[in-house]
Amino acid sequence: MCGIVGYTGPREAFPVVIKGLKRLEYRGYDSSGVALLNDGKLNVFKKKGKVSELEEHVIGKDLHSHIGIGHTRWATHGEPSDRNAHPHQSQSGALAMIHNGIIENYTQLKQELTSKGYTFNSDTDTEVLLNFIEDIKINNNCSVEEALRIALKRVVGAYCILLISADDPETIIAARKGSPLVIGIGKGEHFLASDASPIIEYTKEVVYVNDYEIAIVKPDELILKNLGNEKQTPFITRLDMELARIEKGGYDHFMLKEIHEQPDTIFDCLRGRLLAQSGQIMMSGVENHLDAFINAPRIIIVACGTSWHAGLVAEYLIEELCRIPVEVEYASEFRYRNPVVHKGDVIIAISQSGETADTLVALESAKENGAFIFGVVNAVGSSISRLSHAGAYTHSGPEIGVASTKAFTGQLAVLTMMALKIGFAKGTIDETRYQHLLVELEAVPEKVKEILKDTSAIERIAKKYKDASDFLFLGRGYNFPIALEGALKLKEISYIHAEGYPAAEMKHGPIALVDDQLPVVFVATKDSYYQKIVSNVQEIKARKGKVICVATAGDDVIPGMADDVMLVPDADEAIAPLLSVIPLQLLSYYVGLAKGLDVDKPRNLAKSVTVE
Ligand code: F6R
Repeated sequence: MCGIVGYTGPREAFPVVIKGLKRLEYRGYDSSGVALLNDGKLNVFKKKGKVSELEEHVIGKDLHSHIGIGHTRWATHGEPSDRNAHPHQSQSGALAMIHNGIIENYTQLKQELTSKGYTFNSDTDTEVLLNFIEDIKINNNCSVEEALRIALKRVVGAYCILLISADDPETIIAARKGSPLVIGIGKGEHFLASDASPIIEYTKEVVYVNDYEIAIVKPDELILKNLGNEKQTPFITRLDMELARIEKGGYDHFMLKEIHEQPDTIFDCLRGRLLAQSGQIMMSGVENHLDAFINAPRIIIVACGTSWHAGLVAEYLIEELCRIPVEVEYASEFRYRNPVVHKGDVIIAISQSGETADTLVALESAKENGAFIFGVVNAVGSSISRLSHAGAYTHSGPEIGVASTKAFTGQLAVLTMMALKIGFAKGTIDETRYQHLLVELEAVPEKVKEILKDTSAIERIAKKYKDASDFLFLGRGYNFPIALEGALKLKEISYIHAEGYPAAEMKHGPIALVDDQLPVVFVATKDSYYQKIVSNVQEIKARKGKVICVATAGDDVIPGMADDVMLVPDADEAIAPLLSVIPLQLLSYYVGLAKGLDVDKPRNLAKSVTVE
């Protein structure tokens, strides 16, 4: 949550910072602000609302500066407002700071400062930390860097902070623990950001700052130190990312662009790994740890939200193909309920951003207990990918739309390959089915293209049901998690209340909701549960519910029963989730659009949830 950007160098800082904030707006968009430094004077501009509102707010203001920090906020402490927007200034006015994360012991620090006479202009934990740093600087008569180091030793919580000081016209001081920070290395200039998207158009050379490191960043110098004041060697990584992949490319919204990118992103995920002709799956992360997987008494999957739904699909895949018991855990619950993790258990962490705090802390504690951790992550170089012992990237490219779409199908593609590889090595899948599934998986990008060729029927259905107040999503087997995902997408994008259930569970409660106003979406593709789901459709129709089905092209039963149908090509049931989710992504997109909502930035959400 919260996006941060910084620049120091010969360019005008404001345009660099504001452009970066727009790229990071998916991380939070309830307020934004910048701090610039000109002639020893800090100029801070901030505004409730989106970055565009900040841009309007600064029209006519003096923005000249060669150093700047900027922030786009997702509120944790204090309501979204001008006064709670970052950057914050210290009591003396000499320091300005932005922060992504949460200072958990801020009440205690605030009490200490209040008793010394400090007053506060905001309700944020950030302003408390900044004054705490300033107080240490004054009392110890030391540098800002030294004061920061002392302060961070007292801080409990997560942070990525950027700090500038009125008496140092060139230096940004940064520190990280638990919230991401990337530094781009230019020629005589440096760029700082929460992820690489604001940096990529200027340089491809970056340094991912580690937890408990402080960076002292000047135009032509980058010094990294640990909290013990020892210099660290910056590890320079070359980014493999194109600017075009993070821009809208002719689509009205990132979400629509990312839905339409899926034939390519799934193909990229399979490329070089799935060799259907020779019957091979090349995944070095799995290959190098095959014994750990094959001998695992059980696999625990840890994730949140959409990634958790991918985990549920993986549970079906791994149990069927590898005969290993799987538990799928909400990371937040797993972490705090003192779970039983046996030696030999394998933990698979699934995360698009690789920065989700709930998942990260769950993994940290599992790792401390000796578990083997395998990361299925999209964001290269992210915290979860670095914490994992091994892993496989989804290669879906930057996902900017707040609702996850292409990252989800990337996760499904990776998890399917993993299950096939492990199952085949273990001997729990016979060669014929293995070969068949390889061919089926290889065909997915073309089949997704087929679904996306004409989306007008889905758009029509969305307009028809856009005013419903509730939706029910039902599915069985491999398609049950897809029903959950369909409900989550609709909730996020259209703010319509939606619930997902296993179709058979419907009669144990949710059926009481059914009347002639309730749209019920069935994921009813041709699989081994098909006859049963046909009966469930009839049960809803008998109670006058409105039935919308995701059905297999060529099915002549479901279209005769349902009020509306969204068709997908035929596929083996283990592969079907990769197809059946696509119409549901589009349905939520078009309902949100028809309701006039901001589909790329739904209210209250943030792309990267870096608070627990
Ligand atoms: C839903 C969505 C969220 C994320 C969840 C986990 O569209 O995007 O539910 O899936 O916050 O995020 P990652 O995958 O980044 O760990």
